[in-house]
Amino acid sequence: MTTALPSTPTPDDAALWHQDRLYLTDQRVLPERAEFLGYDQAADVADAIRAMVVRGAPAIGVAAAYGVVLAGRGAYAAAEEGWKAAIEADLERLVASRPTAVNLFWAIRRMRGRIAQLDTSDPTAALLAEAIAIHEEDRAANRRMGELGAELIGGPTEVITHCNAGAMATGGYGTALGVVRSAFAAGKISRVYADETRPWMQGARLTAWELMHDGIPVTLQADCAAASLMAGGTVGWVIVGSDRIAANGDVANKIGTYGLAVMARHHGIKVMVAAPTSTVDMEVASGAEIPIEERDPAELLGCGGRRIAPEACEARNPVFDVTPAELVDAIVTERGVVLNPTLEKMRALMA
Ligand code: MRU
Repeated sequence: MTTALPSTPTPDDAALWHQDRLYLTDQRVLPERAEFLGYDQAADVADAIRAMVVRGAPAIGVAAAYGVVLAGRGAYAAAEEGWKAAIEADLERLVASRPTAVNLFWAIRRMRGRIAQLDTSDPTAALLAEAIAIHEEDRAANRRMGELGAELIGGPTEVITHCNAGAMATGGYGTALGVVRSAFAAGKISRVYADETRPWMQGARLTAWELMHDGIPVTLQADCAAASLMAGGTVGWVIVGSDRIAANGDVANKIGTYGLAVMARHHGIKVMVAAPTSTVDMEVASGAEIPIEERDPAELLGCGGRRIAPEACEARNPVFDVTPAELVDAIVTERGVVLNPTLEKMRALMA
C-alpha cells in the first residue's frame, strides 16, 4: 500500500508501494534479516515471484498487481499511446512466474479488466489505484476470515498449521494465521504447532517469526512429528491456507497438507482452510486439474546451503498437493463459511 517505508519490515509488510516504487520484504532471508528490496520494473517483479522473494498465494497476487502498475508505467514511457500493446510482454512474464496459486492469474485478470477501460493516456495512476484496491480488499478479507474462522473454534485448544499462511503470505493479517490471531485474541487457541515445512522452511522461518512477533505461543515441529502430536489428544484443529480451491472444494496447498488432513481425520481432528474467494477457481472442476509446481530438485538435495544427499541422487520436488474436499471440514472465505464443501456449496458461495 502507499505508505511510509518502515526502516525494518514487520510481518504485515510483505508488499508496500512507496514513492513510485514497489518494495517487497525479502522472505528468503527472514528471520535472520528483515529487509526490503525495491522494484521499478515488472520483469524484476516476475523474477522476485519466481525466486520466492515474495510468496504465499494472496501476496503473489498483490505483488503481481503492483507489477502491472510498473508494466503500465514502463509501456507508456516506451510507447506512449501504444502502451496497451507494449504492456503485453510484461503481463505474460508475470503470468508465467508461478503456476499453482490462482491469485496470481486472478489479480492479473482484474488488472487487465482495468486496462480495457482506459484510454491511451498515461495509465499509471489508474493502475495504481486498482492495485491498492486489490491490496486493501485482501487485508479486509483476512480480517473477516479471522472473525469467521474464530467462531468455528469451540474452546481453548492447540492447533497445527503448515507452511506460512500469515501476514507475509498475504496483503496483511494472514489467512490461516489471521484465524489464529483472532481466535487467540478470543481466548480460543492456547498454542500453535508450526510444521517446519521442508524444503523452504516457511513454517520455521516465517510462521514462527510472525507468531512470536504477536506473542502467540508457538512450538516448531518437524513435518513428520504431526501424527504423534495428534495422538496426544491436545490438538483440536489443523488450520491452513490455500493456493487454489477447485469448484468441488478440493484444496491445493503446500506439500504435506494432504498428509496432515489424512492424519487429522484418523484422529478426529478438524481441518479448516482459510482463503479469500480470489483463491477459488471455479474453472477447475477438481483438484486433479490444478497444475502442481515442481521446483528444482536442488532445493531438496541440500539443506542450509550444504549438500545432504549423495551426488547423482534423484529427487522429486512437487511443492503443493491436493487435499480432497471430503477431508476438509470448513472452508472459510470473506463471503462466508462452507462446511463439508461440495460443488453445490461452492457454487452457492461464488454465485
Ligand atoms: O510456495 P509458497 O511459500 O508460495 O506456498 C505458500 C502456501 O502454500 C500457503 O499455504 C498458501 O499460499 C496460502 S497463503 C495465505
